[in-house]
Amino acid sequence: MTTQIEKLIQSAKEKAYEETDSAAEPALTSAVEWPVKCNVGLGLEGAVACETTIGYVNGSKGWLIYRGLDCFDLSEFSSFEETSYLLIFGKLPSSKELADFNAKLAEYRILTDEEWKAVNALPLGKGHPMSDLRTAVSVLGLLDPTAEDTRVEAETEVSIKLLAKVPALAGIIARVRKGQEPIQADTSLSLAADMVRMMTGNAPSEEDAKVMDVCLILHADHGMNASTFTSMVVNSSMSDMYSSIVAGIGSLKGPLHGGANEAVLKTLEEIGSPDRVDDWYANARTKKKKVMGFGHRVYKAYDPRARVLQPLAELLSKRHPEVEKYYEIAVKLEGKVISELGKEKKIFPNVDFYSGIVYAAMGIETEMFTPIFAVSRVAGWTARVLEYLKNNRIFRPRGIYVGPAYVEYAPIDKRG
Ligand code: CMC
Repeated sequence: MTTQIEKLIQSAKEKAYEETDSAAEPALTSAVEWPVKCNVGLGLEGAVACETTIGYVNGSKGWLIYRGLDCFDLSEFSSFEETSYLLIFGKLPSSKELADFNAKLAEYRILTDEEWKAVNALPLGKGHPMSDLRTAVSVLGLLDPTAEDTRVEAETEVSIKLLAKVPALAGIIARVRKGQEPIQADTSLSLAADMVRMMTGNAPSEEDAKVMDVCLILHADHGMNASTFTSMVVNSSMSDMYSSIVAGIGSLKGPLHGGANEAVLKTLEEIGSPDRVDDWYANARTKKKKVMGFGHRVYKAYDPRARVLQPLAELLSKRHPEVEKYYEIAVKLEGKVISELGKEKKIFPNVDFYSGIVYAAMGIETEMFTPIFAVSRVAGWTARVLEYLKNNRIFRPRGIYVGPAYVEYAPIDKRG
C-alpha cells in the first residue's frame, strides 16, 4: 500500500518533471578530454576537477541523480543504507550484498569500549556540535589501527565504519550537550531511526523513521560541493580517509554550505510570525543580507530536494503549534523570495530551507541540524574520495600572484 509519504514524494516528482522538459541531456554522458578548456569564475565556478560516475546535478532542470537513479525514486523506494551502497559500490545491491553490507554496518555501529570512552572523555558541548563531530571523528581515526592504510580496499572499509559510526557520534554529541547520558546504537533499527533514537532518547515512529531516511538519502551526495571537494583534496595527497572526512565536516559547517539549515531556523525564529515576513524581507534586502536556505551555485531551478522536503515539513509541522508557525513563515518567505528574485536571479529554496522544520518537528535541537547533514554526506564524501583515489592525482590549482615583483628588504627599524 502506498503511504502518505510516498504519495507526497510522487507528487513532488511530478511537479519537478512537469515544470521542465523531461528528456535527459546528452551532455550527461560525454567523456572529459584532458586538458579541459573551460571558463573558470571566482570560487572555481565552472572549473572541471575530475570525471565521475557517482552523481549529477542538473541545475537548469532541477534534477538530481545518483549513479543514474533519480533522487525522487530513491527517496520513495530505497533506504539510506542501500543508497550509500549504491554511491560507494556503483550499483544497487542484490539482497545478499545488502544483507552483508548491513551486517558490517551493524558490527561497526556499536562503538568499541575504547572508542566510547575516548569520545565521551572529550570536552563536548563547549563549542559548536560540528566542532564536536569533527574532533570525535578525528579521535576514531587515532584509534583505528588501519587508518594509515591508503589502499582502496582499506579506505573502503573505513568508509563503511564511518557510515556506521558517525550517527552514533551525533547521538552522543546531542545528548551530552543536553546533560543527558549518551546511549549506544540499537542495530535492530535503521541507521536513520537509530540516529533519532540516540539523539532524542526515543525510537521514532514508523512515519518519522521513513522521513528521516528520506532526509539522509536526499543529503547523501551533491556533486563537487565545497565539502566533497575538500575531502577529495585532502585525500589526493594520499593522506587518509579519516583526515578527509574531518576536513569535509569542517567545510560543511559553514553557513554558506551545510550550516545553512541551522541558520534558516534562526531566521524563522527571528521573523517570529507570518505577518512580519514582508518587513523582515524588506529590511534584509536593504541591508543586502542573503536569505538563508535560498540560492545555489548550480541550481537555477527549484532544488528537487526542497521539493520533497517542503511537503514533508508541512506534514510533520502540524504536530506542534510552534513548528507549524515556522512552516507558515517559511512558506510566506518562499513566496516573497521567489516573486522578487526567482525570475531575475533564479533564486529558489535549496535543501536547507525546509529540512530544519522536519528535524524540529521530530524534537531535534536546531544546533544538531548540520551534524545530521554530515551523517548523510559521509556517503557522498567517501564515495567520491574512493572514486578519485582509484586514479589519483594530487590537486594543485594555481593562485595568480598579483603582488609586486620586487620589494627591497628593509631592516625592522627602517620600516614605516
Ligand atoms: N539571498 C539573496 N540573494 C542571493 C542569495 C540568497 N540566499 N543567494 C544568492 N543571491 C544573489 C547574490 O546576492 C548575487 O547577487 P548579485 O549578482 O546581485 O551580486 C547572486 O545571487 C549570485 O550569488 P552568489 O553568492 O555569487 O552565488 P554563489 O554561487 O557564489 O553562492 C550560495 C551560492 C549557496 C553560497 C548562495 O546562494 C548563498 O549564500 N545562499 C545562502 C546560504 C545557503 O542557503 N547555503 C546552502 C546551499 S545548498 C546546500 C549546500 O550545498 O550546502
